[in-house]
Amino acid sequence: MAEAVIGGKTLPVPRHIAIIMDGNGRWAKNRGLPRTAGHAAGGETFRKIANYCRSLGVEYLTVYAFSTENWKRPEKEISGLMTLLGKYIREGLRDMEKNHVRFCFFGDLSRLPQKLQTLCLEAQERSAGFEGVQVNFCLNYGGRDEIVKAARDFARDVANGVRQPEELTEDVFSQYLYSKDVPDPELIIRPSGEMRLSNFLLWQSAYSELVFMNVLWPDFTPADLDEAILEYHRRNRRFGGV
Ligand code: FPP
Repeated sequence: MAEAVIGGKTLPVPRHIAIIMDGNGRWAKNRGLPRTAGHAAGGETFRKIANYCRSLGVEYLTVYAFSTENWKRPEKEISGLMTLLGKYIREGLRDMEKNHVRFCFFGDLSRLPQKLQTLCLEAQERSAGFEGVQVNFCLNYGGRDEIVKAARDFARDVANGVRQPEELTEDVFSQYLYSKDVPDPELIIRPSGEMRLSNFLLWQSAYSELVFMNVLWPDFTPADLDEAILEYHRRNRRFGGV
């Protein structure tokens, strides 16, 4: 675990921080702008926060960018979001050598536009060797969907004789999730005042500290991330012990 000066104190930094980037729509509405303008502002916040996490020594940053439920949104908003995601992945590819960010994608990418799928694979492959922060983009991601897929894949391995049912443990099951080899997040942040997980990292959040904040994602600053990390340190983490 890296250490950093946060709020004037030298503190260990969580290895893995996950964020539900919520409130883009309300931010735009408050300004009389279209929802896509809120997502564009949210994309800029993502860029700033990802860089800040890298400077703090955070090893994994997981962001909820598009959920399995988001397909219910108007076609125009969906295509706007896909375009934005493409833009940030392309920029990430361009700046990759400089920033050393490793790209990873959690979710069923097969429903995304073909071009975006290709871009995701290219970003994942080209950044695989980098040792800065790993950003996990949750795209067409749902926690229940991830768990069902893992169960199906394990059942298939049993049917094919690769596994025995008795071999299934929490650790083995974890290896069938999108997050295999990534430690569970110590801290999950949801801005915008909502207090739900909304199908985000259901398996991985078993012992995460949940910090809900009253700021809309486009307005979220590094100082808000500091505040969330300070709140994480104020809590006494016992993992079911005494
Ligand atoms: C939730 O806000 C946000 C999303 C569904 C999309 C998040 C996407 C981005 C921040 C854009 C780019 C992302 C990356 C990783 C570059 P909402 O629309 O539900 O807000 P509301 O609850 O106020 O309506």
